[in-house]
Amino acid sequence: MARLLSVRRLFAVCLCGSAAVFLIITLQVVEELGQFEQKAHRLPLKERQELTQIQPDSSLLTEDKISAASEDWYPFIVWWSPLTGELGRLGECGSNRCFFTINKSHHAHPSTHAFLFYGTDLNVESLPLPRKEHHQWALFHEESPKNNYKLFHEPVITLFNHTASFSRHSQLPLTTQHLESLRVLTSHTYLLPLAQKNHLRHTLAPVVYVQSDCDPPSDRDVYVQELMKHIQVDSYGQCLNNKHLPPHLRDSTAMEEQSFYQILAQYKFILAFENAICDDYITEKLWRPLKLGVVPVYYGAPNVHMWLPSNRSAIVVDPNEPPEKLAQYLKRLDKNDWEYLTYLDWKMKQEISNQRLVKELKERSWGVQDITQDNFIDVFECMVCNRVWENINRQKEGLPPRLWQAEADHLKCPPPRLFDFSAAPPNSTSLRRIWRASYAQSEKEARALRRLVLRNTNFTLTQFWREVFTD
Ligand SMILES: *[C@@H]1O[C@H](CO)[C@@H](O)[C@H](O)[C@H]1NC(C)=O
Ligand SMILES: *[C@@H]1O[C@H](CO)[C@@H](O)[C@H](O)[C@H]1NC(C)=O
Ligand SMILES: *[C@@H]1O[C@H](CO)[C@@H](O)[C@H](O)[C@H]1NC(C)=O
Ligand SMILES: *[C@@H]1O[C@H](CO)[C@@H](O)[C@H](O)[C@H]1NC(C)=O
Ligand SMILES: *[C@@H]1O[C@H](CO)[C@@H](O)[C@H](O)[C@H]1NC(C)=O
Repeated sequence: MARLLSVRRLFAVCLCGSAAVFLIITLQVVEELGQFEQKAHRLPLKERQELTQIQPDSSLLTEDKISAASEDWYPFIVWWSPLTGELGRLGECGSNRCFFTINKSHHAHPSTHAFLFYGTDLNVESLPLPRKEHHQWALFHEESPKNNYKLFHEPVITLFNHTASFSRHSQLPLTTQHLESLRVLTSHTYLLPLAQKNHLRHTLAPVVYVQSDCDPPSDRDVYVQELMKHIQVDSYGQCLNNKHLPPHLRDSTAMEEQSFYQILAQYKFILAFENAICDDYITEKLWRPLKLGVVPVYYGAPNVHMWLPSNRSAIVVDPNEPPEKLAQYLKRLDKNDWEYLTYLDWKMKQEISNQRLVKELKERSWGVQDITQDNFIDVFECMVCNRVWENINRQKEGLPPRLWQAEADHLKCPPPRLFDFSAAPPNSTSLRRIWRASYAQSEKEARALRRLVLRNTNFTLTQFWREVFTD
């Protein structure tokens, strides 16, 4: 009995201990994210022409009307997120119409056929449970994996029917979401002649780095800090800062300003390091140097070669090689004009030889900063609307529903890795140590979340954490 008691006490202590660790990790990540990610909903939402708030007329929306296939009936699609801010909008998707709303009280409405989730603000508690047979779930997640790790595991991603993510495998791939067009890529607007860049080398470093989101999961700052020991780098951002921008450019919103571009365009190399390392996770960090005519030194998507304009347009960092070796290579290119220019050959000729990239930009169904095209949120909404209608029509014809199922590779990232250079970086924060633990914990959270969702009753946050700890 005593033995049993002590075992139980030990168990309780362990449980408490691990709970405390989880809590600390969670709180720290939440706090840090709050600090760095205060940019909620910076999505390029379409300026909706008519923001008229339609109040659904429930007299039109009874099940008998569905079977009567009334012209006035339309399925409800509920955003489980405030993302669009639209309390009610009747969307036209080709010949189909759906009612889109962020009003969660339509959860149990008989006309509700789908729920749309926005990855970054998907909260585990208060999910639309119970989920009915005809409730399709769709996930939209275009942001960095650091924003909600638990979605990146098979047990969670496969709860969804439809996906739109940066992964090329998702049903609506957003891999090129930060690239407006091929024209901006080949444009010479900011390109400086090499003679001028060489002249500027009297006052500027060969390499530039601008980051203000320090110590993210990719551990880029530790790599760059090591690199800086071997080659001169001008660092304008808050991370590893050694040079100041003119005051009017210090605001992070100035990152897209012409005068900021002009500063960057003077350099030979830009360190284009993503905040997380996943296949297809490619941001403006890659496209910006390519647009400007500066050679990107890229660390990010391991499969970036699939997306580069040509097979010699970027220097891709091999994380298994010492930064010193990269520094030597960059110094060699800095001294050798001919060799440096081989990386700009595609730009000079305005030639994109990567047919995958050409095809993707030609065929994608949405535009970026392009008012003549739909944005990807509209396209996502319509993808779901049309699929909902497909099953409604099949049902009318007495056919079984068509099924959609998200797969593990629709959202997938390996665990973050830390660089390990002999000299411990003096300035890096405890944050960089959190990501791995946070990822490991997110695997447990994912399993717990799946178990709870499959039970198909609503649950509280406390119940969720209990489920996580008993994993
Ligand atoms: C949400 O929908 C419910 C039910 O139709 C309605 O009573 C409520 O006023 C709506 N909320 C808002 C903010 O429009
Ligand atoms: C180290 O941190 C201090 C205080 O946060 C900051 O002023 C300094 O610029 C940082 N140094 C580097 C190399 O990042
Ligand atoms: C790179 O692309 C050029 C032009 O398309 C081609 O001639 C060359 O063989 C390619 N090189 C490699 C290593 O793939
Ligand atoms: C949606 O996904 C769920 C869970 O995998 C599945 O049970 C359901 O049949 C799917 N619905 C459709 C219409 O594909
Ligand atoms: C589940 O939902 C019902 C009805 O909305 C509510 O009364 C109940 O408190 C919820 N339970 C939990 C555990 O959230």
